[in-house]
Amino acid sequence: MSDVLTVQGLTVSVRDKTLVHDVDLTVGPGERVGLIGESGSGKSLTALAILGLLPEDVHARGSVRLTGVDHELIGAAERRLSRVRGRDLAMVFQEPMTALNPTMRVGDQVAEAMLIHGTISGRRAARAAASSLLDRVQLDGVARAYPHQLSGGQRQRVVVAIALANDPALLICDEPTTALDVTVQAMVLDLIMQGVTARESALLFITHDLAVVATVCQRVLVMYGGRVVESGPVEEVFTNPRHRYTQGLLAASDLESADRRLPTIPGNVPPAGQFPDGCVFRTRCAHATDLCATLPPWTGTASSGFACHHPADDRGSAVPRVVASARQPVSSTAEPAAPTEPSTSAEASDA
Ligand SMILES: Nc1ncnc2c1ncn2[C@@H]1O[C@H](COP(=O)(O)OP(=O)(O)OP(=O)(O)O)[C@@H](O)[C@H]1O
Ligand code: SF4
Ligand SMILES: [Mg+2]
Repeated sequence: MSDVLTVQGLTVSVRDKTLVHDVDLTVGPGERVGLIGESGSGKSLTALAILGLLPEDVHARGSVRLTGVDHELIGAAERRLSRVRGRDLAMVFQEPMTALNPTMRVGDQVAEAMLIHGTISGRRAARAAASSLLDRVQLDGVARAYPHQLSGGQRQRVVVAIALANDPALLICDEPTTALDVTVQAMVLDLIMQGVTARESALLFITHDLAVVATVCQRVLVMYGGRVVESGPVEEVFTNPRHRYTQGLLAASDLESADRRLPTIPGNVPPAGQFPDGCVFRTRCAHATDLCATLPPWTGTASSGFACHHPADDRGSAVPRVVASARQPVSSTAEPAAPTEPSTSAEASDA
């Protein structure tokens, strides 16, 4: 079956600075792909370019194709893109307030998402469907609340309900739980997983948290300096990293400890647009040689490989102990756990 998302040669630049270089990326039907890398590596710009949501002075070239959409997304008119966004392609960002209208009841916002795209007809039917979607993200009774009456976790669950309202072919999440209280992060994650599994939607998931990637994703792409430096099945990449940058990330990370965020690799990340020619990692790499001043070729297949002149040894597929311990079964059919957040006045007063 053909891929849901096919990105080819995506390059993002602002004035004379190139921020994302020649990114190739695919997500298959129902596949869950993670995108990791230190701060400033170009993850969000890649997502925004796919969504056609780059700021005005930032430009993308290359190709972004989505299944079921008969035109190129890069360079498409906003009128055409807005038909695709929220219907075939949905998103959940870090800060839910930016995605919600503060002056509109949340139930109406979920209903509106379906009415705008014509996936349901009639306001009454849309309201009923919205209410059922909110129930499924454990928000029964909040349809008449305004966003400010909800907690951060509840708002993000409204955003998840809106994102899933039209059964998108692809959901893009960019750090969807980072801004949330730690007690509700797992719940929101579980709801996202249940939502995409139930709809067989593909997922592109951006996170700093390696353990979340191990739990949620089947395949991972590692970005540094605006380039994809390694990709492959999560267990393979996390167990047997070949690129020296991936190796550094994993060596400094302990997936079994409580602090599982991306570690800092020695040396500083260069400012945007000032990464070295050749291998982008060579100013921080202990294995760099003169050869690394030339761009390393991609070794492997389109969906699994790396770009490094002096890769770490291929240790074969050892049993991925850290990955296995980080993986938690994520229910796809079971009812989610009861919310751990206190109920709000909006929930209490909602009739
Ligand atoms: N509008 C812009 N103008 C100039 N530079 C920008 C612009 N937007 C982003 N950048 C730069 O591009 C680089 C990549 O940014 P991006 O937001 O994609 O990083 P990221 O990988 O998502 O990082 P984080 O993990 O911190 O979210 C950063 O160095 C950022 O400063
Ligand atoms: S290409 Fe060279 S500088 Fe880049 S990661 Fe590999 S060894 Fe290090
Ligand atoms: Mg980002």
